[in-house]
Amino acid sequence: MTTRSYRPSHYRRSVAEIDLRQIDRNFRSFVSLYPAGTFFCPMVKANAYGHGDIEVAKALRNAGANYLGVALIEEGERLRHAGDRDPILIFGPVDSGSAETILRENLTAVVSGWDQLQALEVAYADGGTSTTRVHFEFNTGMNRLGFEPEEAPKLREWLREHKEFKLEGVCTHLLRGNDAGDETGESEIQLNRFVQIVNAFGDLPDLIVHALNSSAAVNIWNRKAEQKQLGAANGKTLGLRPGIGLYGVQPPNDQHAEIQLRPVMSLKTHVIAIHHVKKGEKVSYGPLWQAERDSTIATLPFGYADGYRRSLTNRSQVLFRGARAPVAGTVCMDYFMVDLTDIEAKTGKPVVIGEEIVLLGDQGQESITATELADLAGTISYEIFTGVSERVTRVYLR
Ligand SMILES: Cc1ncc(COP(=O)(O)O)c(C=O)c1O
Repeated sequence: MTTRSYRPSHYRRSVAEIDLRQIDRNFRSFVSLYPAGTFFCPMVKANAYGHGDIEVAKALRNAGANYLGVALIEEGERLRHAGDRDPILIFGPVDSGSAETILRENLTAVVSGWDQLQALEVAYADGGTSTTRVHFEFNTGMNRLGFEPEEAPKLREWLREHKEFKLEGVCTHLLRGNDAGDETGESEIQLNRFVQIVNAFGDLPDLIVHALNSSAAVNIWNRKAEQKQLGAANGKTLGLRPGIGLYGVQPPNDQHAEIQLRPVMSLKTHVIAIHHVKKGEKVSYGPLWQAERDSTIATLPFGYADGYRRSLTNRSQVLFRGARAPVAGTVCMDYFMVDLTDIEAKTGKPVVIGEEIVLLGDQGQESITATELADLAGTISYEIFTGVSERVTRVYLR
């Protein structure tokens, strides 16, 4: 495996603090909602949504996760090289260049096309030894990846002719997990199609079936818990594949007190320069900010190259001395500036270099969530997390 070409900076104190205790709590919250034995595959793709794949994977294994899910074969390979020996599902496609790695590293391919099966067949003929577990993904409406539902019988036939492969699971992905459990929703249509697909493999007694992302898992529970219909296919409870919920984002419109997910990532930095700006002076590129009064402007060593989005220019706030302060002017590549005038006046102490600033997370009674930043930036929390770049040092709390 190639070495990482880019390293985080250890010299500046701009960090992503990752509280692994909250990963553990969020994981157990999901598990406790569903019957014992329900298939559960936490998603740690994209560097565990930016939180650090190896550390998060270890925390999840310690909490009891039997399976982990990633998108790329390289992501699975990285976990193997870090010593993870348990099942890892690869949701992205396998091809002739990567099938050998799947077999060698004992990764589990979630196969979504015939070309992928063929690549695995060829690799197996080239040196496969033990039975290779696979999952099949079906397209039930999202039209991203997956076999078509009507291909299920042909796939069942393929398995009879290829005893070197064992079908461990079948799955689908919902295009709007938020409406899961609502009988008139998009998810219901997809899950009904999925039940038909599962039936084509009805003679395989141990087959795992999985479909629920974070919001689907919580919303099905919210809507159907009392009836104990948590989404079933062929008598099996649908398995869970939560991602964003494990990282502490509560599914939208969720009023259910049963599952309280807690944020895992905080972004922290500190004041590196202070400018006493006179009324009428400008701050940063553009300029898009002009002082309406004499102001105390602090510079922070965190920019869009670190994942603080440029679209937050003049919009977002940071936490300083337990209160909110506005961003002043354009977010630059390595820095942005904040207006600390009001907090300095209120606390009666001059701002000094080195004081802590929280960009995401809690300080005192105040809190800034990924959803708040995402709304201001016109995106989603997933992109805020995965956008925290490699040069930001991850610090793990255990
Ligand atoms: C196939 C698959 N399953 C599960 C998930 C997890 O979804 P979420 O992060 O919304 O829980 C994803 C994420 O996009 C996915 O692509």
